[in-house]
Amino acid sequence: MISVPLFSVRDLHVWFELPDGRELHAVNGVSFDLHAGEVLGLVGESGCGKTTTILATMGLLPSSADVAGEIRINGEEILHGGEASVRPHRWRDIAMVFQGAMNCFSPVRTVGSQIVEPMKLHGIAKGAEARRRAGELLEMVGIPAASADRFPHEFSGGMRQRAAIAMALACEPKILLADEPTTGLDVMVQAQILELLASLADTLGLAVVLVTHDLPVVAEACSRAAVMYAGRIAELGSVDDLYHDSHHPYTRLLFAATPDLLGDDRVVSIPGSPPRLDREIVGCPFRERCDSAVAECATEEPALHLVGSSHVAACHLNDLIENVRQ
Ligand SMILES: Nc1ncnc2c1ncn2[C@@H]1O[C@H](COP(=O)(O)OP(=O)(O)OP(=O)(O)O)[C@@H](O)[C@H]1O
Ligand SMILES: [Mg+2]
Repeated sequence: MISVPLFSVRDLHVWFELPDGRELHAVNGVSFDLHAGEVLGLVGESGCGKTTTILATMGLLPSSADVAGEIRINGEEILHGGEASVRPHRWRDIAMVFQGAMNCFSPVRTVGSQIVEPMKLHGIAKGAEARRRAGELLEMVGIPAASADRFPHEFSGGMRQRAAIAMALACEPKILLADEPTTGLDVMVQAQILELLASLADTLGLAVVLVTHDLPVVAEACSRAAVMYAGRIAELGSVDDLYHDSHHPYTRLLFAATPDLLGDDRVVSIPGSPPRLDREIVGCPFRERCDSAVAECATEEPALHLVGSSHVAACHLNDLIENVRQ
């Protein structure tokens, strides 16, 4: 029997209407599935649509955004009914640690009083019960319960990030979206936060989407990863497949651009920049930076094709190699 994914995103598109009336196609046909206990990495350079993708799944985009596609939690579609159908799930089933979340605590209130806020708002708990739960949540992320009475400035950056994760877990969601949760933290603390997310996925059976532009982060914490480029998924597969059997030139360049991963200090930046998303893209969006591009790449956009048992990539070269084999 094939089990229904806990979290499923199908053919997600997001268009932002720009002030001059033009449209920017920020997310273009993104699909992925996630089961309980899984951590999926969402990686790619700045501006490739990572944050927009996860904000869309929470129904948190501004009114200038148009969203299409399907978003399912345990099989139930939540996008088509608009705000009314997303609202009951937001924070209770699907929660998010925002980009820069560790800086979002109000400096004038204790951390504990801010963690109880979503519980009160969603009718989960109030008063002494909510305060007790806040202490439990802090313990769960490795902070003594008594620290609930301390102010954010008394916490280190790593503790604030842990507290932000605790706050996202306040309403016991099944799905946790973490946007760049380790940025700005030192390497040791980064590793601890990643370990925490992986262990929460395991012990609570959470489905976690971990957004990062940092490939070592993916290797550390994720079982699978989706590499995004120009609002699309360029390649999706197990972290092992992406490392050792990549089928997209962009994934390979991203790895080459990552220091330490290959055991030396090489940092090779990827020449050029991603295409503008406020103009129509003809052909493969990566072709201008690709050293293996063929004629077809200029005219036809490659579709995602299966290149392994649960490994997909969008590159014409895979189809050419397949044709030669046949
Ligand atoms: N509110 C908005 N209005 C117009 N364009 C937007 C808006 N938000 C994002 N964009 C555009 O959508 C595209 C995707 O942005 P997004 O923030 O999702 O990228 P990202 O992958 O999260 O980048 P980063 O790594 O820098 O956080 C970019 O071209 C960005 O400029
Ligand atoms: Mg972002």
